Amino acid sequence: MAKEPIRILTKNWDIKNSNTIEAYIKNGGYKALEKAIKQMNPEQVMDEVKKSNLRGRGGAGFPAGVKWGFVPKDSDKLKYLCVNADEGEPGTFKDRYIMTLDPHMLLEGIAITSYAVGISAAYIYIRNEYIESIAILKTAIQEAKAKNYLGASILGSNFNLEIYVHRGAGAYIAGEETGLIESLEGKRAMPRIRPPFPAAVGVFNCPTVVNNVETIACVPSIIEHGGEWFAGIGVSKDGGTKLYAVSGHVNNPGVYELPVGTSLQKILYEHAGGIKGGELKAVIPGGISASVLAARECDIAMDCQSVAKAGSMLGSAGIIVMNNRVCMVEALFNIAEFYAEESCGQCTPCRSGSHWIKNILERILHGKGKTDDLEIMLSFIPGIMGRTICAFGDALCGPVQSFITKFRDEFEYHIIEGKCNIRNKLDIL
Ligand SMILES: Cc1cc2nc3c(=O)[nH]c(=O)nc-3n(C[C@H](O)[C@H](O)[C@H](O)COP(=O)(O)O)c2cc1C
Repeated sequence: MAKEPIRILTKNWDIKNSNTIEAYIKNGGYKALEKAIKQMNPEQVMDEVKKSNLRGRGGAGFPAGVKWGFVPKDSDKLKYLCVNADEGEPGTFKDRYIMTLDPHMLLEGIAITSYAVGISAAYIYIRNEYIESIAILKTAIQEAKAKNYLGASILGSNFNLEIYVHRGAGAYIAGEETGLIESLEGKRAMPRIRPPFPAAVGVFNCPTVVNNVETIACVPSIIEHGGEWFAGIGVSKDGGTKLYAVSGHVNNPGVYELPVGTSLQKILYEHAGGIKGGELKAVIPGGISASVLAARECDIAMDCQSVAKAGSMLGSAGIIVMNNRVCMVEALFNIAEFYAEESCGQCTPCRSGSHWIKNILERILHGKGKTDDLEIMLSFIPGIMGRTICAFGDALCGPVQSFITKFRDEFEYHIIEGKCNIRNKLDIL
């Protein structure tokens, strides 16, 4: 008999009115918060999360419990939680499902996290375009306050928590954790130099935990079932399930909850319904910041370590699938155009480098490429990689390097022949 799929984050999504507090409570919601507050002290909650091997779902994959542990216990300053709901990474569209379909799971996760770390104010920094999620979250906060799951003296304890929904400033860089903090403080989202890290000096110069929506939404189930249970679902040092958001040339694009470490083949062919409109050519496994994988490299497990071993990254697990009708010059130009537009401009290598790369790709795409253009673009990489305040510069370099090296013949054809090989062959526009 086939094993039942494990559903942690999506377990309520099919329920009628899943975003109401009545539906959430009826399905066991807020029991984990009650357990944390009434039966556990903050250290025990943090220990459970450490045991769970929950890694951050926003891109960097840092262990959540370890990050919480960096917040100084002896500080007399207020401590804050910033939930990163900016979801700006192209190819990533999972957090909005959590916020729209099950906002109380996120709120319960925020409350448990805040209890563990000693936080009394939490912000949900949400992408401004997520109008529906914003309204749903605001209603959910009122519902939870009315039942004393949020607010003052939660469930009769001395734990107080206010949650604020803060609409984002409409920039990709505002999703970078220190850019987010700047933006939350009312400034332009210019990333900060680290150290100090937000855990020590974050929003309003106070200790701050920044975690992605999905990361926080995992917390109630960890407290309900225990850290070991969660750790046992994924792979070593990378626990739980993951929301894989699949888009591009597949028959069934969508968000799939599967154990961390599920094979990419299984995700593409069993869940996303196989490749649409042609044969598999390439996959970007973790949002556009992740290096592209050629079809021959796609036999991998989708966890942080395995994808890194394959030369890319799990990132946000936004899986972008490309069939053999895709022109890789055009695809990379698209990516480079995004980075040139979104660079905050603070660091010269990123600000200038992103525009140089975009301009060169534009001329190659339009049949005006020069013979040394590929070498010129590749020569920029050591000047950008690791030489900027935040990871934006690195995020640009991965795609550039991997597209050019893995699909070099296509770029060369464009430069030498002044036209597209793929379009020529397939007789498409
Ligand atoms: C340019 C850039 C954009 C980012 N955008 C997001 C985002 O939209 N959402 C997110 O959760 N993390 C984003 N991140 C990652 C955050 O900086 C940070 O690592 C994350 O919010 C931490 O949460 P986690 O540990 O739960 O993953 C971005 C990073 C960079 C460099």
